[in-house]
Formats: sequence, structure tokens, C-alpha cells
Amino acid sequence: MAAVTIVGAGVIGVSWARLFGAAGWEVRISDPRPDLKDVADQHLAGQPVTLSADLAAAVDGADFVQEAGPERIEIKEQMFGTLAAHTRDDVVLASSSSSLLPSAIARGNPAADRIVIGHPFNPPELMPLVEVVPGPQASPRTVDRAVEVYRELNKVPIRLKKEIPGFVGNRLQKVFDDQCAYLVQQGVIDVADLDDLVRASLGLRWATIGPFQSGTLGGGPAGMRHLVTHVASQMTFEIGKPDPARMDEVLDAVESTYGTGETAYEQLVDLRDGRTRAALEPLGWRQPPAVDPPQE
Ligand SMILES: NC(=O)c1ccc[n+]([C@@H]2O[C@H](COP(=O)([O-])OP(=O)(O)OC[C@H]3O[C@@H](n4cnc5c(N)ncnc54)[C@H](O)[C@@H]3O)[C@@H](O)[C@H]2O)c1
Repeated sequence: MAAVTIVGAGVIGVSWARLFGAAGWEVRISDPRPDLKDVADQHLAGQPVTLSADLAAAVDGADFVQEAGPERIEIKEQMFGTLAAHTRDDVVLASSSSSLLPSAIARGNPAADRIVIGHPFNPPELMPLVEVVPGPQASPRTVDRAVEVYRELNKVPIRLKKEIPGFVGNRLQKVFDDQCAYLVQQGVIDVADLDDLVRASLGLRWATIGPFQSGTLGGGPAGMRHLVTHVASQMTFEIGKPDPARMDEVLDAVESTYGTGETAYEQLVDLRDGRTRAALEPLGWRQPPAVDPPQE
């Protein structure tokens, strides 16, 4: 049985662990957090996993590494130094980083050719996409193997042609999220209405066709060229930017709309996961392998 070491048992790490485990991998998790066993009991109950605070021991003999530790370049550099020293030279070292450049994570690392970004969307066990982002030092074999592993997990790996901060998904998300915050700060719309507006329009559209396909259709039979010259050319307004000093106003509004804490979090996770599972197959994506529900 192939063995994967997941580095970090936070939001992303436990989801990767469920995904790899359900696909038949031997799963090891390394995290220095003192409540690691509690986290595994709560989120991975019923799934055989090996837990260790010692990263070097956890990767010994691993066939693939999926790092999901803190989003801090100095911590990633240190973790990947340990990973390089304690893995075979055919083992891919994939980082879940949301925006850090693979070349920065691999800087000065003797295993730079084996380091690649495998950036999931949350939760990795359900969202099809994994962005595979090579730095200039990553070998073609590393990128091919990462793509192969994610395909085996029923993911949709999309290989970027070159690195860029934030990759593609989070660059798009940043533009969008900034505008959402700006509109709330400006008093144009409240948080719940904005979420409903997006779900009832762009979200539904983008779940079925991409923005360029949509542009093609928006122009009618004349295609996107017509839409750009006819409609988009009139959208000359400035879109503005949120004021960073007033982000608390937005965060207060989000928290009073959706709550905070374990119970509110679990309720929202159930809502999201239920809807996502229901939509995957009708939209043409493959269901992830079945995962046993956590035991009480
Ligand atoms: N949260 C998201 O929506 C999301 C989505 C995609 C990718 N990511 C990326 O995934 C990674 C993890 O994000 P997260 O949201 O799960 O973070 P998180 O804060 O929930 O979890 C990080 C975990 O790393 C552990 N950790 C700290 N030092 C460590 C070390 N030296 N070795 C091993 N583990 C260590 C922490 O104890 C914690 O459990 C980040 O790089 C993030 O950018 C996050």
C-alpha cells in the first residue's frame, strides 16, 4: 500500500487525510499541536492513521508528501528542508500553499526538483480542482507524478505553465473578494444578500460554464467579440477598493450574519458539503471515494 505523509492537521490537512485514506493510501499525519490525537479522533474517527509530532519520522518511507502547514514562508522553508533530508529522491513533496511561490519554498533546498505546489480548494476531499504549480527548478517527472496522484484521487489537476503569486484560483478570488468587501463597506448591499446574489447568478453560471464560455454566449451568435464591443465597452466605471482600515466593519457584519465558534462552523460545513456532494455528479465531476462518517 502506498504511504502518504500529510504535514499539518488543520482544516486542509484533515481533509486531505480523509481523501487519501478513502482512496486506499496508508496515511500518516505530522503536526506538533498538542491536541493532535483529539483532532484525529474528532475528524478521522474510524480511519487508520499514524500520528507523529516528529516530521522526520513521519516521512520515513513515505511515497508522497502533501504539506498543509502554516502559510508562512519561513516555516515552509524549514519544513521542506526536513522533508528533503528524510525522503527518497523519487518522492514528490507537494505544498498545499494558497499563494506562496514554489521557487520561494524551494529556495536553497537540495530537493528543489521534487517540490511543487498542489493547491486544493477547500475542502480538498470534495472540490475537484488541484492547481499544480511548478517552480522553475521542478522536474517534469515531479509535475507528472503529482498530476498522476491527484487523478488517482479523482481530482481535476490543472497544471499552470509557470508560477505566479496566488496562482490562478486565488488571484481571481482576491479580485472578487475585494469587491465584495468594498460593496459592503460602501453600504450598497449587506452580507447575506451579497451571498445570495452571487449564488443565484455568477456562482450558478460558473458551476456550469467558465467565464470565457459565458462571454461567448453573452454575445449571442456573434460571440464574445460582440459582447466586448457592445456591452463591456460601456462598463468604464472605476470599481474601487476596500479600505483596509475599515475591514472590521465587514468582519463584524459577516460574524453577526453567520456566527462564529464550533457549532456555527459545523452547521455551515454541513450545508456546504451537502450541496457540494449533491452537485458534483450532475455537473459532470466524479464523486470522491466514500468516507465513513465520524464515530461518536
Ligand atoms: N484554509 C483554506 O481554505 C485553504 C485552502 C487551500 C489551501 N490552503 C493552504 O493549506 C495550508 C494549511 O492551511 P489550513 O487552513 O489548513 O491551516 P490551519 O491553520 O488550519 O492548519 C495548519 C496546521 O499546521 C500545523 N503546524 C504548525 N507547524 C507545523 C510544523 N512545523 N509541522 C507540521 N505541522 C505544523 C498547525 O498545528 C496546524 O494544525 C496553508 O498553506 C494554506 O495556504 C488553505
